[in-house]
Amino acid sequence: MTSFDPSALLTARTRTADEGAIIRMAQKSRDLRAKGMDVVSLTVGEPDFDTPDHIQQEATAAMKAGFTHYSPVQGIPELRAALSRKLKAENNLDYAAAEICVTNGAKQAIANAVLSLIDQGDEVIMLAPFWVSYEITVRFAGGTPVVLAATVDEDYKVPASRIAAAITPRTKLLILNSPSNPTGAVWSANELEAIAEIVRLHPRMMVLSDEIYEYIMFDGRMASIGALPGMRERTITVNGFSKGFAMTGWRLGFAAAVEPVTRAMVRMQGTITTGANQFVQRAAIAALEGPREEVERMRLRYRARRDMVLAGLRAIEGVRIGSIPATFYAFPDVSALLGRKAGNHVMDTTDRLCDWLLEEHGVAVVPGTAFGAPGSIRLSFAASEADIQKALDRMSSALKSLA
Ligand SMILES: Cc1ncc(COP(=O)(O)O)c(C=O)c1O
Repeated sequence: MTSFDPSALLTARTRTADEGAIIRMAQKSRDLRAKGMDVVSLTVGEPDFDTPDHIQQEATAAMKAGFTHYSPVQGIPELRAALSRKLKAENNLDYAAAEICVTNGAKQAIANAVLSLIDQGDEVIMLAPFWVSYEITVRFAGGTPVVLAATVDEDYKVPASRIAAAITPRTKLLILNSPSNPTGAVWSANELEAIAEIVRLHPRMMVLSDEIYEYIMFDGRMASIGALPGMRERTITVNGFSKGFAMTGWRLGFAAAVEPVTRAMVRMQGTITTGANQFVQRAAIAALEGPREEVERMRLRYRARRDMVLAGLRAIEGVRIGSIPATFYAFPDVSALLGRKAGNHVMDTTDRLCDWLLEEHGVAVVPGTAFGAPGSIRLSFAASEADIQKALDRMSSALKSLA
């Protein structure tokens, strides 16, 4: 019998789908904990709060009422109507229920959009630091990521002039994520208008606007690029229930775009997963239209933690951080610390620095390489205040000890 190696059968595509550093650091923390080490982990990007009770109750009631069957692929009409009202009232976006696709998480909305628009060789502009999934999904579709990077001194926002200079005849899509994972940056209405001005000049270009951190903002409200003049047709707005409503495990998101694009996205979804869970969609209506006190309570907790994290990081020499107007992430630039030593170990990359922080000091954070920004590290403050303080204390004494 000849030897059989199933891994030799795998497609090239599988090699593009590597989630990398976040999962690696989270797994490494679990492994060290299992060996008895006291590890504080600020790696994962998910609320540490439970889903508000009235949303849970609605899901249970819907399940009992028989909403346990396949959903229409595009989502139940009642939820799409509620989303259409939400987009108008909160984001000044005009999309009818027929222009909305309910998805299994915002991640699927992004995949639907990219698979619908990007063919082999199409270029997609993404603004680093960015959420790593964008790059992986674009490569998965055969597209070419064009990465433009901004520094901490630019508040991590790539200026519109650099975006204009990167556009070629093959550019199909610009991915925007405001508020941003991992930096917490928020683009103002004026900054979005400067981008829209460039996009409107190009007949073959659209914007994917990922607004999933909409409800975790600390000053004012965000602006949606799809609400700007001439941008309705050119924008796919993606959002979801995971972050603001603490519903990560429920897997519910949505995309809004003009009908031909929405229809294509529905076809992609129909091929891969079909519609999202029915009783979860019922509960999502309660999330949108029910009381928002819990969402506000969580926001205030994140804001207090943001203040703790900023104060802690600003007190460490060699760590640079601007403001964090939104999200539950801090993304300090630690490039001034690279090259320093702990004993014989040189911290020449943030990957090495993060491994050392975890293995020697019991604090897990994610290297910026995972976000297209190798000089920074990401801390998630979706963790208890006690854990955040412990992590800051450990980081402070560890980083100060570097020679
Ligand atoms: C920027 C951004 N977009 C989308 C998602 C995916 O969210 P969902 O849980 O709805 O798939 C995440 C999750 O980490 C995210 O950070």
